[in-house]
Amino acid sequence: MKKIVMSIVALTATTALMAGVNAGACAGCHGADWSKVALGKSKDVSAMSHADIATALKGYKAGTYGGPMKGLMKGQVSKYSDADLDAFAQTIGK
Ligand code: HEC
Repeated sequence: MKKIVMSIVALTATTALMAGVNAGACAGCHGADWSKVALGKSKDVSAMSHADIATALKGYKAGTYGGPMKGLMKGQVSKYSDADLDAFAQTIGK
């Protein structure tokens, strides 16, 4: 079990490195496989399309997307470029 967890962590770290976005910072709320409803408020990100995730991430950054907790997500994504967010969106969801 510990081995499995370690390989998931390694995989996540590799993906994040490639895309510029540190996915490790997101896993606590969204789950390592993105299926967790973050703080009881978010959608199941693993079920969202790449395009919808890209819209959401860039929208949080621009202040044009989101629900009651969008301010929290703005803090998570505002340090990344739109290109980084676009690239990262291709690595999660479906
Ligand atoms: C502290 C908890 C927390 C962290 C850390 C966090 N999120 Fe979120 N995320 C949320 C919440 C809560 C929402 C719903 C916000 C709202 O009201 O729109 C959300 C929404 C989202 C959505 C859109 C889903 C929807 O409901 O429309 C995406 C995509 C997303 N987050 C990706 C990320 C990424 C990528 C990271 C890391 C860079 C991250 N999140 C880090 C809590 C978190």
